[in-house]
Amino acid sequence: MSYNRRKFISFMGKAGLGTVVMPQFLISCGSTATPTNGFGQISKEKLSTLKAFDLMGLSATNKDDLVLANGLDYHTVIKWGDKISDTDTFGFNNDFTCFIPFDDNNPKDGLLWVNHEYVNPLYVSDFDAKKYENPSEHRTKEQVDKEMYDVGGTIVRIKEENGAWKVVENDPHNRRINGKTPISVNWDSPIKGKSTIIGTNSNCSGCITPWKTFLTCEENYDGFFGETEYDEAKVATHRNSYYGWENFYNYPPEHYGWVVEVDPKDGTAQKHIALGRFAHECCTLYELEDKRVVAYTADDKNDEHLYKFISSKPGSLKKGTLYVADTINGIWLALDWKTQAVLKSNFKDQTEVLIRAREAAKLLGATALNRPEDIEIDPVTGNIFVTLTNNKPKGDYHGSILKIEENNGAFDALSFKAETYLAGGDENGFSCPDNLAFDMSGNLWITTDMSGSSMNKEDKPYMSFKNNSLFVIPRFGADAGKIIRVVSAPTDAELTGPWFSPDGKTLFLSVQHPGEQTVDKNNPTSTWPFDADNIPKPAVVAITGDLIEKMNLLNRIEVNS
Ligand code: FEO
Ligand code: CA
Ligand code: CA
Ligand code: CA
Repeated sequence: MSYNRRKFISFMGKAGLGTVVMPQFLISCGSTATPTNGFGQISKEKLSTLKAFDLMGLSATNKDDLVLANGLDYHTVIKWGDKISDTDTFGFNNDFTCFIPFDDNNPKDGLLWVNHEYVNPLYVSDFDAKKYENPSEHRTKEQVDKEMYDVGGTIVRIKEENGAWKVVENDPHNRRINGKTPISVNWDSPIKGKSTIIGTNSNCSGCITPWKTFLTCEENYDGFFGETEYDEAKVATHRNSYYGWENFYNYPPEHYGWVVEVDPKDGTAQKHIALGRFAHECCTLYELEDKRVVAYTADDKNDEHLYKFISSKPGSLKKGTLYVADTINGIWLALDWKTQAVLKSNFKDQTEVLIRAREAAKLLGATALNRPEDIEIDPVTGNIFVTLTNNKPKGDYHGSILKIEENNGAFDALSFKAETYLAGGDENGFSCPDNLAFDMSGNLWITTDMSGSSMNKEDKPYMSFKNNSLFVIPRFGADAGKIIRVVSAPTDAELTGPWFSPDGKTLFLSVQHPGEQTVDKNNPTSTWPFDADNIPKPAVVAITGDLIEKMNLLNRIEVNS
């Protein structure tokens, strides 16, 4: 379906029909709806006083820089290799970011969590994979150790002073979670014989829980320890990983591919088995009135699925049921060994169903989707938006955004309506949507992820889009419903992890894998962020300026407590 501007406005128009009830507690990946126990609403009066302002977007560019629309500035908060303490440094390829202030009355001092998804061996371990046909066989243990250190996540205290966010070096909260951190298993039986797993990797997107911990999602885990695969006779074999870490650390693939929770206070972590095992892009939580939680999570692989977990106990990510979406018929199908005969006959217990969730989902008739990535809940309507980034073998090069309306707006409903909200492509000026975020006024921000090997190439269908970018779709005013490019990424990079500070004055954003197509270290394709080392470095930036403040605050959705 092509994009239809009127449709967006009518979807907003719903907000004008008297009082729109906002979720009782809405906090999700990249959403900035202020956590509240009250209800948000846009009243008729409010709609009549909406303030319009001009927004000058950027044209597509292939410049090796972080290019910003008028009204925006940026500074680098932290980049790969920066010291966070006497013993630790910031990891590689930062993705999801989020920020929790220590004190709700002071939005300028708190903890930043950052995911580190994977490493570029050329820079991290001085390993040139291109020299070998089977690179994983040639790494040394020392190189693997360096790589394991630079994935996972970082907790770091940051403070804003005179308009600039700075790391508080050596704050006792500062720590790394990485490929070697012991992490407990939140499940009643061990996973491949262990109740404690060593390390996390492939940490892509995530969210803050209603109880103020971080969720970090293990996405392309098979790149690090491989995967266990089963043939028709149910015989298991090991598929080797790209990075070859299993050559030195014999950890089972089943220990990875989970949603991981990290406590910012002390860095303790746990893997949530009940949410299933697959390439988790993200996890978006919604807390129901009775404090049970609903967790939406997506499997970013061609033809994989969209899932949701509904807890049966308040605040639990263990007790409850995992469902997978049949988007054709609008049904959530229970991945429940006890009640589903087809699961009983194919798996030995619920633990195996969760470990092999992809196979279980297919047996139940889950819908194959085009690489579902980020998920956000609209703070005004409660609709759920899911980016489907692309599916090249199926001819979907530009992706789309799926809109889900749960039956009667109930997040624990077992039926729903799904439709395409917006399609990528030349007509709409963007391709391969990935991360989403709603700001305080309900404007929708979208980052794109065209792969480094396809961008700006004459023989690929991405030429006209130039570099990956951040777009915004304003909700109100003269620009309502337009898709406006506001930030363009450096060469080969992807912008990830958009997160607004609690006062709406800063947009934290990750610049991931600049210069990723570099072949010769001495001649990199990018040198962003242009520091003294003159090499490309992933970094988290703070974007500030008039435009961020206007977007967030001029038409801020009111939240009553
Ligand atoms: Fe890590 Fe699906 O992006
Ligand atoms: Ca998000
Ligand atoms: Ca992503
Ligand atoms: Ca992606």
